[in-house]
Amino acid sequence: MERPFPTVAVVGLGTMGAGVAVALARSGRRVIGVEAGPTQALRALDRIEASTARAVERERLTAAERTALLELIEVGDDLAAAAGADLVVEEVPEDLELKRALFAELDRICPPETVLATGTTALSVTRIAAATGRPERVLGVHFFNPVHSMRLVEVVRTVLTSPRAAEQVAELARDLDKEPVAAGDRAGFIANGLLFAYLNQAAAMFESRYATREDIDAAMRLGCGLPMGPLALLDLIGVDTARTVLEAMYAQSQDRLHAPAPILGQLVAAGLLGRKSGRGFYTYEAPGSSRVVAEEGAAAEARPAGRAVRSIAVCGSGTMATGIVEVFAKAGFPVLLAARSREKAELAKAQLARSLERSVAKGRLTGEQRDAALALVVPTGSYRDLADADLVVEAVAEDLAVKRELFTVLDGIVKPGAVLATTTSSLPVISCATATSRPRDVVGMHFFNPAPAMKLVEVVSTVLTAEDVTATVLELCAKVRKHPVECGDRAGFIVNALLFPYLNDAVRMLQEHYATVDDIDTAMKLGCGYPMGPFELLDVVGLDVSLTIEQVLHHEFREPGLAAAPLLEHLVAAGCLGRKTGRGFRDHARR
Ligand SMILES: NC(=O)c1ccc[n+]([C@@H]2O[C@H](COP(=O)([O-])OP(=O)(O)OC[C@H]3O[C@@H](n4cnc5c(N)ncnc54)[C@H](O)[C@@H]3O)[C@@H](O)[C@H]2O)c1
Repeated sequence: MERPFPTVAVVGLGTMGAGVAVALARSGRRVIGVEAGPTQALRALDRIEASTARAVERERLTAAERTALLELIEVGDDLAAAAGADLVVEEVPEDLELKRALFAELDRICPPETVLATGTTALSVTRIAAATGRPERVLGVHFFNPVHSMRLVEVVRTVLTSPRAAEQVAELARDLDKEPVAAGDRAGFIANGLLFAYLNQAAAMFESRYATREDIDAAMRLGCGLPMGPLALLDLIGVDTARTVLEAMYAQSQDRLHAPAPILGQLVAAGLLGRKSGRGFYTYEAPGSSRVVAEEGAAAEARPAGRAVRSIAVCGSGTMATGIVEVFAKAGFPVLLAARSREKAELAKAQLARSLERSVAKGRLTGEQRDAALALVVPTGSYRDLADADLVVEAVAEDLAVKRELFTVLDGIVKPGAVLATTTSSLPVISCATATSRPRDVVGMHFFNPAPAMKLVEVVSTVLTAEDVTATVLELCAKVRKHPVECGDRAGFIVNALLFPYLNDAVRMLQEHYATVDDIDTAMKLGCGYPMGPFELLDVVGLDVSLTIEQVLHHEFREPGLAAAPLLEHLVAAGCLGRKTGRGFRDHARR
């Protein structure tokens, strides 16, 4: 294919337009920049000169490249100049009437073959296209901020956009060293559509005081490896912008999960828009600053001291139990590893020895540390040996009957005053607690897999958990170098309650043929900096496990939008469970 669009007009040279103009000129294209008036045009030119000068300082660009690219950019305030372009990219503020008027004008000015692209985030591309007489040559081209470093470009087709126009714009994006993905015309497209629904749930979770802002953010960073927590990200994006995008999403989907959380409206009404205004979910040193400061008058809550923990027992012999034993033993705690039989306990200890050996091989542990940790672990096949433990952590099968039975047994054996913890990820902690005569002493300790590597522990208090029991577990987490977050006893705790609805949304997008598996994964990795795309993650976690968690969440909250996507149910029914069976959303066997 010949190089598409040698001359491109960019209308609106603000944050996005200036970035797009530079990227285009860098690829050797002539850029006709158009601003709203002479003052704005001068400001835009300044912005482009300053940003390219910074790029030279940071060695992203040579001085010669900068000079060459600046020569390719002209900036004026007469829209008629756009007549000389093969493609027009519109990057004016997010206002439908403004954009429609501009497109009607461009349609009049530009030759009929010129392709017109809008940079909108959440407005209807179709309605913008309808303001012209050439809707087949109108599409969306959604870049991400900052344009120079974000590789994702969503190429948005309406029902009328010609495939050729979309392919040419995708080709242009590749020529700019970007990764284009194909999306249909729906508010938020792929990346923001998935991202903002999740941000909204995080805001609602904070609003309901289920967990603190710091804990919600830490949970998603440490539990899912996300580059930023959702509330910090809302502050960065701008609470007002987020609310506008959600309004647009809700208008189209009528899904209550997209209805902006009331707290967003309150913050906007109070002028607390996030970093740009110095305060949003967090308070910043100054408007525009990224440095979080404590609010005036904020005092740390007094909490009772925890109970003494000298010896720990872990029940179970699977992946989680073995990983948790490793965490405690490496931190110097004597650990009883209790399984249903002595053989199972011995096997689990052998598994632990192999894991420690791998750490030694990778240079993360010395031989002495390995030996010291192993010496602290005593396998046993009898729960009677747990009588003197200060803390018992249950990590047996995720089955309420099995767990309740174990808690009843432990209740009869373990000394009074000991803390009893469950690692359940989707069962109610309170149901474990009520299987004992001491529900005050029962708490959730939700580790993540692999436990030795994952820093996060969700500490789950039921309505009956004693404060010093919660404190015991929080203190212990600090001693074993884990990051605890506190939450109440409801389905999904923090991480799964925010993660799985997002994964389910991704499956729904696929099921509706809105976008492909690869494009959705690419959009989330490149557009949001996620370590894995949703389908990669679903295949790793297991589709059956994911389906169970989604069903639990749906059952708990009865939110129609949380119902598991039928496609997920079908794949599970067909035995496509992800990597473990060789096939899930992707075919792993053939790779
Ligand atoms: N900022 C982001 O993170 C981001 C990311 C992706 C997409 N977008 C979308 O990109 C578009 C532009 O957003 P932005 O953040 O660059 O906005 P911005 O406010 O920084 O820039 C808009 C520019 O358009 C100019 N303008 C206004 N009316 C004009 C007219 N009639 N003709 C020519 N120029 C005009 C303004 O002077 C301003 O310089 C919006 O649709 C936005 O939703 C923004």
